[in-house]
Amino acid sequence: MNRDWENRLAARPLLPVVSIEDADQAVPLADVLLDCGYASCEVVLRTAAALEAVERIASNRPELYVGVGTVIRASQVGEAAAAGARFCVSPGFEPGIAAAARNAAMPLVPGVATASEILAALAADFHFLKFFPAMASGGPGYLESLAPVFPEVRFCPTGGIRSGNLADWLELECVACVGGTWFVPGSAVAAGDWEEIRDLAVAALTAATKILEKSVS
Ligand code: 3PG
Repeated sequence: MNRDWENRLAARPLLPVVSIEDADQAVPLADVLLDCGYASCEVVLRTAAALEAVERIASNRPELYVGVGTVIRASQVGEAAAAGARFCVSPGFEPGIAAAARNAAMPLVPGVATASEILAALAADFHFLKFFPAMASGGPGYLESLAPVFPEVRFCPTGGIRSGNLADWLELECVACVGGTWFVPGSAVAAGDWEEIRDLAVAALTAATKILEKSVS
């Protein structure tokens, strides 16, 4: 199985999870993320403009690896593919969504929060999983206890992660990257406040890079 997409998603330690209300904000946001050194972003399917936003990023800024998040129905996989998404993220593991992704050759990051859900995802041959909601499901200590049983799984914890607990996640060997909204707040996207996003996005990536440098030294 081709795992290039997993490496692209994990090329940076942080995956911006963005909510876009107005598709006109999509390309300016992509430009800020690229400028700040990000390689990918997940646009959540929680707004009417989300697919149009993905389409604009995919066609105008193909260098940003754009995916669709909050996939909760199998039919959304085809919609994501039509918009040019490079990957899909789901909050849970659902066999119909998994089958749709496989049929469309669309990389899928299914969500898991328990050993049984990880087993179901592994049985369907998914090894790159979203640990969600990361803090509410037990936090880094819980994932640290769970992960040794599944050495072939790489996780992208998302949900409740902020600058104050980022190190606890990034220091876990099983963590490929961390997703979150704290450095791309929806309010700033809606207001087109690119300076605020730039400040937050640079600070988050700088902090993440330092944490990783410290943990390998
Ligand atoms: C998601 O969609 O993955 C989460 O809602 C992001 O969670 P956060 O806002 O706590 O980062």
